[in-house]
Amino acid sequence: MCEYFSVLYIIQPRQRKPLTEGSCRIDEVDLMGVHIAVVGNGRIGRPTAYTLFNERLADEFSLVDIKPGQAWAFGEELRHVAASLKYDVRINTYEEDEAVSEADLVVVCPGKPRIPGVKMDRRDLVAGNAKIINYIAEVMPPRNPDAKWVIVTNPVDAMATLFKKVSGADFVISTGDHPDTLRLRTKLAMDLKVPVSKVEGFVGGEHGSAAYPLWSTVKIDCEPLDKYLEESGKELDRDTITGYVRGVSKRVVDIIGGTEVGPAAGFRDIIRSILQDRQEIYSIADSIRLPGLQEAVNVNIPTHVGRQIGPNLWDQLTIEEQGNIIEAAKAIHANYQIGLEAVGKA
Ligand SMILES: NC(=O)c1ccc[n+]([C@@H]2O[C@H](COP(=O)([O-])OP(=O)(O)OC[C@H]3O[C@@H](n4cnc5c(N)ncnc54)[C@H](O)[C@@H]3O)[C@@H](O)[C@H]2O)c1
Repeated sequence: MCEYFSVLYIIQPRQRKPLTEGSCRIDEVDLMGVHIAVVGNGRIGRPTAYTLFNERLADEFSLVDIKPGQAWAFGEELRHVAASLKYDVRINTYEEDEAVSEADLVVVCPGKPRIPGVKMDRRDLVAGNAKIINYIAEVMPPRNPDAKWVIVTNPVDAMATLFKKVSGADFVISTGDHPDTLRLRTKLAMDLKVPVSKVEGFVGGEHGSAAYPLWSTVKIDCEPLDKYLEESGKELDRDTITGYVRGVSKRVVDIIGGTEVGPAAGFRDIIRSILQDRQEIYSIADSIRLPGLQEAVNVNIPTHVGRQIGPNLWDQLTIEEQGNIIEAAKAIHANYQIGLEAVGKA
C-alpha cells in the first residue's frame, strides 16, 4: 500500500461499574476492557459480530435482537466459536435495546433490508427504519453514555444523521461508502487485471445511488490512475465501474437474499481502526455541514478514523468531486427529513 501509518495499537482498559440489578449478563468472566454491542442480529448483524469476534476486538460482546430467542441462539453459536478460539470473552444476550449498558462501541444494524427480486432503492427503506433508529437513539444512549455509535441500517447515511439528531451523541458515523470503496477496488483490479492489493482509491457521497468513485484518489501500484493508464496503455470504462459500485449489492441481494460478509469485513476495518486508534483512512460518513446545506448531515468523505474522527481529505478532492459529494449530501438530507417526518419530529 502507498499509505503508511506508524501507530501503536493499544486498547486502554477502563474501570467497569458493577452490574445493575436485573441485568441478564450470562457469563460472569471478570475481564476489563472493550465492550462492543451489536444491535440487530439478522443477516448483516451476525457476520459483523462474528468478524469482530474472530479478531478479538473486545472482551465483552452484547447481542441484541427483539425477535424472541434470536440473540440467545446467536450468542450460543458465538460461545462455541469462543471455545474453538480459547477466547475468554463475556457474551450478553438481550431482547430489549434498553437492556444494554456501558458499551464502548455500538454497531446499529436492525431494520428492514431491500427485498430480493423487488426493484427498490435503499432510500425506500427510510420511513420504516427511521422508527427503529429513532427508538434506539432515544433509549440506548442514557445507559451507554461513552459509546461510539456506528450505524449500518439503511439508508445508512440518513439513518446516521437521524441518530445524531435524536441522540445528540458526539461520535456517530455511518459505515457509508467503505463497502462501496471495496467494490470499486475489486472492479478496478478485475478490469485492469492487477492484484487487488495494488489498488487504492475511494468512493464518496452517499451509500447508494449517489455513490461516486473519487477518481482523483485512485492509484494503481502507487501511480495515479491517469498516469498508470497512460504508461500501461490500458483502457478503463469508468461508467461501467460506477454501475458496478452502485449496483452489485442489489444483484447479490436478489440471488442470496442479502449482503453479508463483504460489508461485514468493511465494518471490521472501520471498527478496528476506531478501537485501536489506527487513524486509517476510510470513506465513512461523519456529521458535516457542507456549502449549500442548512444543517450538518452524515456524508461520505475519505477520513482518518480513530478514537476521534478526522481530518478528512476534502481539500485534496477535485472541484467536481466536491460538487458530487455536496449533491449527495442534499439527497441524504432530503431522505433524513422523510425519516424525521415518519417519527413525528420534522
Ligand atoms: N450499510 C451497509 O453496508 C449494509 C449492509 C447490509 C445490510 N444493511 C442494512 O442493515 C439492515 C439489516 O439488514 P439485515 O439483512 O440484517 O436484515 P434482517 O431482516 O436479516 O435482520 C434485521 C434484524 O433486526 C432485528 N430488529 C428489528 N428491530 C430491532 C430493534 N429495535 N432492536 C434490535 N433488533 C431489531 C430483527 O428482529 C431482525 O433480526 C437493513 O436496513 C439493511 O439494508 C446495511
